[in-house]
This record gives sequence, C-alpha cells and structure tokens, in this order.
Amino acid sequence: MDFCPESLHYELLAEVGEGSFGKVYKAREVGEKQRLLAVKKLNFRWESEEAGIPPFMIREVALLRKMGYFNHPNIVKLLDASAVSIGSALDLTLVLEYIDQDLSTFLSKAPACGLGRDLIKDVMQQLLQGLDFLHTNLVLHRDLKPENILVSSRREIKIADFGLARIHTYNIALTPGVVTLWYRAPEVLLNSVYMSSVDMWSAGCIFAELFLLRPLFKGYTEVQQLQKIFEVIGLPSEGDWPQESPILYSESLGPRGSCTNLLPNLDQDENDLLSHCLLFNPNRRISAAKALTHPFFVKHGRFPPNDEPKLLRFCDQE
Ligand SMILES: Nc1ncnc2c1ncn2[C@@H]1O[C@H](COP(=O)(O)OP(=O)(O)O)[C@@H](O)[C@H]1O
Ligand SMILES: [Mg+2]
Repeated sequence: MDFCPESLHYELLAEVGEGSFGKVYKAREVGEKQRLLAVKKLNFRWESEEAGIPPFMIREVALLRKMGYFNHPNIVKLLDASAVSIGSALDLTLVLEYIDQDLSTFLSKAPACGLGRDLIKDVMQQLLQGLDFLHTNLVLHRDLKPENILVSSRREIKIADFGLARIHTYNIALTPGVVTLWYRAPEVLLNSVYMSSVDMWSAGCIFAELFLLRPLFKGYTEVQQLQKIFEVIGLPSEGDWPQESPILYSESLGPRGSCTNLLPNLDQDENDLLSHCLLFNPNRRISAAKALTHPFFVKHGRFPPNDEPKLLRFCDQE
C-alpha cells in the first residue's frame, strides 16, 4: 500500500531516536532538494491470523496525511507515509521534515538558573496553538511530553508523534511499562473516559517544567503518580472522583483542599494559567483556545528593559 503517488527518495544518515515501536533516522533527500528528513520506521506484529493492514491503521495514516495538508506551523510536517505488510508483520514508514532537537534536549541545555520569561511564554503559545489546531480537528495527542515536542533552530515549536495514539494503544498491551506516566492526566491514570483535556493536563506539566527545568510530577506507578499530583493540587472531592475507576477514592492519597498557588515564585498570571491546566476535573480544565486568551499571554506586552525577570528563580531548588 502506498499513500503517496510518488515516494520520496532518501538516504539514511544516522539514528536519532528509538521509541517503543521503531526507530527514527535522520536522512537526506536524494536529488535536487537535498532536504534533511526524519524517517520514522514502525514495525508491528499482529496476533491475528488475518494478513494485510488493519482498516483502523489505514484510517489513522490517512488522518495524519490530511493534517499535513494544512501545513500548521506548530505541527511537524508529514511528507510521506507508506506501509508494507508481509504476513502478520507490518512496516509503516513516515517521512517528516527534520527538526534540530526536541524540547527535552533543549531543556537539558538551558542555563541552570532557568529560561527567560519571554521564552517560556513563546514556547507555551506555540505549543497551545498546535494543540488548538489538533483539537479543532478532533485529534487527541494523548502522549504529549518534551520528547514529542520539537524545537527548530528558529525556535519554532512543532508537535510530533501525534495521531498514532490509537495505533499505539493497540500495541501497548504487547509492550507494557514503556510509557512515561509523568505527563499523564489523572483521568487516564484512573482508567476513566477522556477527551482533549488530557493534552491540556500534559501542557500544564510542560509549562511547569519550563520554569523548573525538571518534571513536575515524577511517579513510577499509577498510584505514586496520583500521590505526586495530589501533593501539589490537593486531593479532589469524592464527588469529582470517577466512579468507574478501579482505583478507589481514599483520603490517604493526598492532602485535602485545593491550592491555586501551585509553584512558589510564579507570578499571579503564571500560577492562574498553570492551575487551570492542572484542574483534576477534566470538564473544568481550560481548553487550548481559552488558554491562548489568558492574561498570561495577552496582558503584558514586552517587559520594559530593566524589568525583565530574565533568570528564573529556581536555582536554589533541587
Ligand atoms: N521530525 C523530526 N526531526 C528530528 N527529530 C525527530 C523528528 N521526529 C522525531 N524525532 C526524534 O526522535 C524521537 C522519537 O520520535 P517520535 O516520533 O517521538 O517516536 P516514538 O513513537 O518512538 O516516541 C523524538 O523524541 C525526537 O528526538
Ligand atoms: Mg515519542
């Protein structure tokens, strides 16, 4: 099966990433353009006897390609997608524009005293614009984290690794324990129903990380992840707890009461936006579109030259 009338030709240069289902390579286009490309190769094995590409996979890749046509500046561009199936094995190849680094690498190179406030604002604004676009098109990311956000040399933020959520979910049972819990919304940890607000939770975790330069909630089991969350946002009321969850409500999961000043040293707007991203109840959590109109983005213009709080204030923590 080929999704493109004319496939791109390229040579692989180096491996740049290894995920749960395959590898990502840096590549160079052969021919006139010589563009740098990222080639993502995913391999799947089916349990079922039926050969061929499952229809849901065809739908997902078609959706990815559709998203590519819009050319949104904050979504990594998919240039080609092809799939080959041999018996119960399937090789899916995605060819993407190459972007210099991911946000995790970018943050690891940040000065120890922190990122400038204008930079944090710019990164968040672009991230939310990308998310708003995905959500408007009814696409959930479901695994938003610094490794899945790319930062170009011109400081453009591009969301990557999206649209495969359903394909990944299908395979996740086969590869347990590979997915980080740190950016996961409580309703996902609690096995409850979820919607686009899961990505806003992750965006909130990333917002905090831009200040802290370390993940906000670092749990290693679902229950521990929830405990870390409640230490900061407070234990929700029992009425907000999803009834169908296999994890039962318990006072021992965290301290009571909700707190709106989640992080010390953030100003009022920063804390307000953060606390609206990190609301336990997904129905009350802020949407990407709404977040973009928050005073954090619209109130302040540029800081007067002497008032720029350039270096953040977390040097004394951890
Ligand atoms: N378009 C790209 N340009 C450059 N590097 C990329 C690109 N896409 C992904 N990468 C790198 O490869 C890693 C894995 O890619 P990703 O799409 O997240 O796959 P996985 O499903 O394996 O997590 C990313 O964390 C990033 O460092
Ligand atoms: Mg990834």
